[in-house]
Amino acid sequence: MHYALVSGGSKGIGYAIATALAKRQFNLVLIARDKEALETAKTQLEREHPVGVEILSLDVSLEHSAETVKNWCTEKKLSLKFLCNATGIGGEEDYLSVGLADSMYMFRLNTEPAMSLIFNLLPFLQKNTPAYILNVSSMAGFAPIPIKNIYSAAKSATIFFSYSLRYQLKKDGISVSCLCPGPVFTKPGIEEATVKQLGWLGKQMAVHPAEVGEIAVQKTLDGKMIIVPGTLASLMSIVIRLLPKRLLGWMYHRFGSEK
Ligand SMILES: NC(=O)c1ccc[n+]([C@@H]2O[C@H](COP(=O)([O-])OP(=O)(O)OC[C@H]3O[C@@H](n4cnc5c(N)ncnc54)[C@H](OP(=O)(O)O)[C@@H]3O)[C@@H](O)[C@H]2O)c1
Repeated sequence: MHYALVSGGSKGIGYAIATALAKRQFNLVLIARDKEALETAKTQLEREHPVGVEILSLDVSLEHSAETVKNWCTEKKLSLKFLCNATGIGGEEDYLSVGLADSMYMFRLNTEPAMSLIFNLLPFLQKNTPAYILNVSSMAGFAPIPIKNIYSAAKSATIFFSYSLRYQLKKDGISVSCLCPGPVFTKPGIEEATVKQLGWLGKQMAVHPAEVGEIAVQKTLDGKMIIVPGTLASLMSIVIRLLPKRLLGWMYHRFGSEK
């Protein structure tokens, strides 16, 4: 049995992805900071599925954390076939009001760990082809969203990075996918913020975390590039991707924003 490594796999979308991978008989490596949450996730996954779960408590925003993961995987001689980068945080406010330090932390956490982990773990994936990389972005990455300018910029960087990498790694038998969900109510604050910003439409677009995990994993294994769970969110994303960026910026500024 091969391993799937899920950074940010202790909670929310990452945990849902880990669950969908366990259903498909992948052993798991879960990375997050909170050890207790990791242990709870491990216990639950091992109770419900015939898989082994390794946990690594680590702050992936720290410099050299990806090298730590690489050395840890080498020591354990892990046979890695699937890498999911789900670590990230939302950005509810414009950086002009929230300040530079918090905005830069959010930008880095949403971009750098995925890039560093892929760079460091590529040799493991190359040994187990066909192999898969799943980066978690957001529908917010399809448009310039003034109130979440840094968040939408970070998520669009993840989308562009994934597109490029997909073509670069194709010859190695590694498929790259990018998950771009609309609202996913992983915690109470998100539901409240979505309803405030998008009203009725936001609630209709929301997809349950477990369903997001299932769709994300199945479509990644099917080799799909951009993955937007949910019919309404998927239709909206097609329209958003076709509209001029200048018009989108105006619309989001005028009518609200999306997480
Ligand atoms: N929820 C949504 O509506 C939504 C929509 C579109 C896109 N997304 C994207 O999906 C991703 C996951 O969102 P979510 O709602 O599932 O978040 P979540 O429930 O807060 O889970 C985030 C995961 O990342 C881990 N994490 C956070 N900071 C970390 C760090 N510095 N080092 C290591 N692990 C860290 C967390 O564990 P610890 O805190 O213990 O470290 C947790 O396991 C994010 O990239 C988000 O932008 C979310």
